[in-house]
Amino acid sequence: MSSERLGIGFIGGGFITRFHIQSLIGVRDCHVLGVMSKTKSSAEESAALSHDLGVGNATAYNSITEMIANPDIDALWICAPNFTRIEVMEEIVSAIESGKGELIGVTCEKPLGRNVTEARRMLELAQKTELLDGYLENQVFAPSITRGKEIIWGRGAATTGRPYLARAAEEHSGPHMPWFWEGELQGGGVLNDMMCHSVEEARFMLTAPGASRDSLTPLSVNAYASCLKWQQPKYAKILADNSDGKTDYLKRPAEDFARSLIEYKDEKGQKLVVETTTSWCFVGAGLRLSMELFGPEYSMFVNTLDSDLKVFFSRKVTGAEGEDLVEKQNAESGEMPVVSSETDAYGYTAENRHMVQSFLAGKRPEENFSDGVAVTELLMTAYMSAEQDKTIQFPPQGLDDFVPAVAKGEWNPNQ
Ligand SMILES: NC(=O)c1ccc[n+]([C@@H]2O[C@H](COP(=O)([O-])OP(=O)(O)OC[C@H]3O[C@@H](n4cnc5c(N)ncnc54)[C@H](O)[C@@H]3O)[C@@H](O)[C@H]2O)c1
Repeated sequence: MSSERLGIGFIGGGFITRFHIQSLIGVRDCHVLGVMSKTKSSAEESAALSHDLGVGNATAYNSITEMIANPDIDALWICAPNFTRIEVMEEIVSAIESGKGELIGVTCEKPLGRNVTEARRMLELAQKTELLDGYLENQVFAPSITRGKEIIWGRGAATTGRPYLARAAEEHSGPHMPWFWEGELQGGGVLNDMMCHSVEEARFMLTAPGASRDSLTPLSVNAYASCLKWQQPKYAKILADNSDGKTDYLKRPAEDFARSLIEYKDEKGQKLVVETTTSWCFVGAGLRLSMELFGPEYSMFVNTLDSDLKVFFSRKVTGAEGEDLVEKQNAESGEMPVVSSETDAYGYTAENRHMVQSFLAGKRPEENFSDGVAVTELLMTAYMSAEQDKTIQFPPQGLDDFVPAVAKGEWNPNQ
């Protein structure tokens, strides 16, 4: 450890890196010292952001190995696209094994891998190098989720019985970069991209405070996926235009709507249900995260678009399109909700605080690569279920090597 403060290097200089850097304003005992990205300009922009916000005198690096060679960088945050996971992690391991430098830990954005093979490989590589590992699932750190869990379990569950049903949804109008839309690059469509959040958040809410992940056993998964909006010719054309013609949703769509129902049992054999819905074809004010939890004598509701701040702009107010009110904003006039601190509300601040404190204390974070593997196993089972149109008992045969048809460019609900 170079100092009392954790030196952080980011891999990837895009959308989520900027969110993380912003959130570090609320995290003590760390500073951003490096950003490495495939496009140098994005590394430079993110490094400049960390200077401007006063969260670190970051340098833009040309390679991961160079970042690791800086003795003041103690941990890396992997925030590059999904299709680069293994090459990124292999470079980290090779730099450490060849003595180029040392690290305490590494964190990785969701999803840990595009399939179970990749997710397990990420875990193996971290363990082989004895790195502490953090899985960046922000929603289990969101204040409304952690505070809601504390109250529901402390009052409702303690006196009347555990919660048995959790519903989680994440919906917006579609990702910001072309690679997310490509099944092969991203690993799937919205099921892989966003159901990872809902599945993990719902499991977290149904797990007793302090209990391990193993206290819930998945029994079965039933899922459905379709392409409701973006395969329509006029919307498919928008995706083609945004990607210089590469994204072809008429021939190779990915699902823009998916749902799943996962049955668990707890340690006493009681059945529990998680119901998730995710969509890239939701048109509303912007990103909508919802979570509901139900038990014998109580319930809990979160909807990030039911914000405490709303603004109204008449039709006379004009201006450029932006995301200044809420992530994935769809309009600039009328009555609109504003999430006043998105980094806090979505959980990034508390997530990074936990990762930094765990690494400084030499402890494995509570949300780690093993959780990333478990989420991937459930998502791949959901793809199996949607493809076979039936409920799948967990764990299914062939899970380790399974690659969804959408990730092979072979899925088309119109055929
Ligand atoms: N937690 C969340 O809610 C959330 C939200 C958005 C994205 N993400 C995840 O974060 C990751 C990045 O998403 P994003 O939205 O920032 O994408 P993005 O396309 O906006 O940014 C990706 C960045 O990585 C860089 N890059 C590409 N290939 C690279 C490589 N081989 N090595 C290093 N850098 C490389 C690009 O130049 C770009 O700067 C994805 O895995 C995504 O699933 C998570």
